[in-house]
Amino acid sequence: MTLQDTTPNTSISKDATWWRQAAVYQIYPRSFADSNADGLGDLKGITSRVNYLKTLGIDAVWLSPFYPSALADGGYDVDDYRNVDPRLGTLEDFDQMTQQLHHAGIKVIVDIVPNHSSNLHEWFQAALASPKGSAERDRYIFRDGAGPNGELPPADWESIFGGPAWEPVGDGQWYLHLFAKEQPDFNWANNEVREDFLKTLRFWSDRGVDGFRVDVAHALTKDVALSDLPSKAELDAHPWDGTHPIWDRDEVHEIYAQWRQVFNEYDPPRIAVAEAWTNSDRRPAYARSTGLGQAFNFDLLQADFDAAAFKKIISFNLDQANIAGSSTTWVYSNHDVVRHATRYGLPLAGDPDSAKKWLLHGADPSVMDAELGLRRARAATLLELALPGCAYLYQGEELGLPEVTEISDEQRQDPAFFKNKGVEVGRDGCRVPIPWEAEGPSFGFGEVQPHLPQPESFGSLSVAAQNGNQGSTLELYREALRLRRELQSDESLQWLDASEGVLSFVRPNGWISVTNFSAQPQTLPEGTLLLSSAPLDEAGRLPAATTAWLRAK
Ligand code: GLC
Repeated sequence: MTLQDTTPNTSISKDATWWRQAAVYQIYPRSFADSNADGLGDLKGITSRVNYLKTLGIDAVWLSPFYPSALADGGYDVDDYRNVDPRLGTLEDFDQMTQQLHHAGIKVIVDIVPNHSSNLHEWFQAALASPKGSAERDRYIFRDGAGPNGELPPADWESIFGGPAWEPVGDGQWYLHLFAKEQPDFNWANNEVREDFLKTLRFWSDRGVDGFRVDVAHALTKDVALSDLPSKAELDAHPWDGTHPIWDRDEVHEIYAQWRQVFNEYDPPRIAVAEAWTNSDRRPAYARSTGLGQAFNFDLLQADFDAAAFKKIISFNLDQANIAGSSTTWVYSNHDVVRHATRYGLPLAGDPDSAKKWLLHGADPSVMDAELGLRRARAATLLELALPGCAYLYQGEELGLPEVTEISDEQRQDPAFFKNKGVEVGRDGCRVPIPWEAEGPSFGFGEVQPHLPQPESFGSLSVAAQNGNQGSTLELYREALRLRRELQSDESLQWLDASEGVLSFVRPNGWISVTNFSAQPQTLPEGTLLLSSAPLDEAGRLPAATTAWLRAK
């Protein structure tokens, strides 16, 4: 299906503040569109869908890694930072994609993975081939093992995916990997590592990328030079106050101050957003203009669909953004968490697992109410798109895609599944390829079976099934993004009085958003109705789990 281009030609703007209230669409390239019938999405596939992105009305795309990788962690194990995975295309394909996106007025943000490379990176291969104490090994974090012959790990640390964080190399030394063993951690105390990343930032900036999403931005500088490494228990007990031996150390910001100088060499300056899962009040340091400039705020992503929780989070983060001099970011879904249309269909707070729903823990699909989940997701989206700040959307959420649970153990790819022996099902369920058509071997994703299986229900959720269909989630996103551009104003809001379970706010230009989190229909404030996530009831009231936008009279 080819969508007709209905919007006028635009070209990329030079406005240096473009990111502050942008709608950024995350593409997981291997699951977006497959142009060469190998079951894996690729760059030409993205280029073939530029028109779709343009008619969706987003301002920028963020591409998860497309670099050469053995896919031990979905591409977050990078073999070569300045190239394209041959299965996904070539550098020329990248240039063509960027050019076409820019022509459509869409900026391009790429993922940068500085905490670790892959074990196939030439530097790590050189480290393995070099002796203890060599310059090659110093680019990573090698330590002597404990025990008489170094046969025990240097410390009992665990990797994020489960299992030990240290791997032996056979000569008494072990290397650190906070994630999979195929992801050795870089030593950021080594100047060569620092210089090489500056080179990578310039490489992509010179090719025209507009910004970077910085993976695990809070882990780069580690205090592991000690002869006595702390134990896991000591690490776990250590406060996250800037002095933790691994996470969110104050000196990490020296690196980003240096990166900022590179970003500012360009016009407009390149932007960056930190993925830093740290305490909320430590985010401004990443987001300040002398650093990365923006940081993901994952607070809504971790919250239940609850008015009081949302209000608290929104107010707090608007204040935090002010402290940083940045704009805040809103995220419900990404390639790491259970899709929010599914999360919101699960029982709300009170259930002991509720805090974990956004994590990898396979939520029990039998207790899920899919219809309610989608209804709440649509309401949450309208609320998000009315907020001041930058909205990060994840591919497929505009179709209301749920988390896919029908994936067999053999089909699973996520190391999180294997490393914890299936206790957590991992993240494959949110990475299933996009359905473009209502039928076909991969619902139009490509010509062959996709690398992760799509459930039958994807046909009715496909782009083709929703396109032009008033009331569909796709058309809701399109209309909301169009209106958002038109209505966008200063980065502030004022809360309006509302009944319990209702959140209502107005932007400076009279743009009102009202969300009904309660189970009872609610009377709307005065104003002209612009859009709602579900129809109003016969009495013109706002039904449960619905958001409406109004223009104040
Ligand atoms: C980030 C990525 C995640 C990856 C991890 C290690 O959290 O979002 O997908 O597994 O870093 O690179």
